[in-house]
Amino acid sequence: MITSAHIDDIRTQVRAWRAKGETIAFVPTMGNLHQGHITLVREAAQKCDHVVVSIFVNPMQFGQNEDLDAYPRTLAADSAAITAAGAELLFTPTPAVMYPKGLEQQTYVEVPGISNVLCGASRPGHFRGVATIVCKLFNIVQPDVAFFGNKDYQQLLVIKTMVEDLSLPIEIIGVDTIRENSGLAMSSRNGYLTATEKAAAPALKKAIDAMEKGIKQGESVDAVTEQAKASLVAAGFTPDYLEIRHAHTLEVAQRQDQALVILAAAYIGKARLIDNLRFDR
Ligand code: PAJ
Repeated sequence: MITSAHIDDIRTQVRAWRAKGETIAFVPTMGNLHQGHITLVREAAQKCDHVVVSIFVNPMQFGQNEDLDAYPRTLAADSAAITAAGAELLFTPTPAVMYPKGLEQQTYVEVPGISNVLCGASRPGHFRGVATIVCKLFNIVQPDVAFFGNKDYQQLLVIKTMVEDLSLPIEIIGVDTIRENSGLAMSSRNGYLTATEKAAAPALKKAIDAMEKGIKQGESVDAVTEQAKASLVAAGFTPDYLEIRHAHTLEVAQRQDQALVILAAAYIGKARLIDNLRFDR
């Protein structure tokens, strides 16, 4: 594995591969990698000749009171895990490499509309930070294909929209959410949970599943949402949002909409967890 914090090193290696006509897959991450991330790397290795991974805890996508400083950094273990999964090039820039003029003077990418609802409403500026860093990383790596998790459903839609709107020649592939046996979606933020909280946390996925079942049985959106919220509160969560939306636009679901997604965000202990379920009515 070649590891570098420098943009030029990444460009040099990628150029050498390209000169041989080989294809490049890219998996951007913030590190502290778990099986969810590793699955993205494995799928990337199956699809392309070479896999590039980035690890960068991106300050631009964290709010003032969020966990930027506390975010777990585990580079040695991450590097070993992605090597085993088939990655060959690891980009580990510092904030100074990515934002040499500081965040205030940084040109940004903003995807209108879908960036401002749900997680975007709770975390103002979050998706601007995500779109900006992913656009920069795409320009540095210039992959053929990039892999993202369906777990961050809204993020995936923001990236797909950015790629379309800016005519970036990159295929975006969404990968199914990898879960613990309990159903809890794997997340670096699960590490913030105490043993008791972790035992309660699968209630998030259960609440979403119950909403889907209720909708399919013809119950009203309001009724299933209220029941799901109550079950979350009973499990010790403080719900942030729990919504059924149109799967492509993230607009509030209308009666005639077939492609739906249930999206949830809820606080438990020090963690804010998200999960979702895409389904057809
Ligand atoms: P991070 O949270 O490290 O996630 C990196 C990628 O792994 C994202 O595409 C995310 O959706 C995916 N992922 C996380 N948990 C997953 C799971 N349980 N199953 C499948 N995939 C999972 O998302 C980010 O970093 C950042 O916002 C980033 C895109 C790197 C921009 O900074």
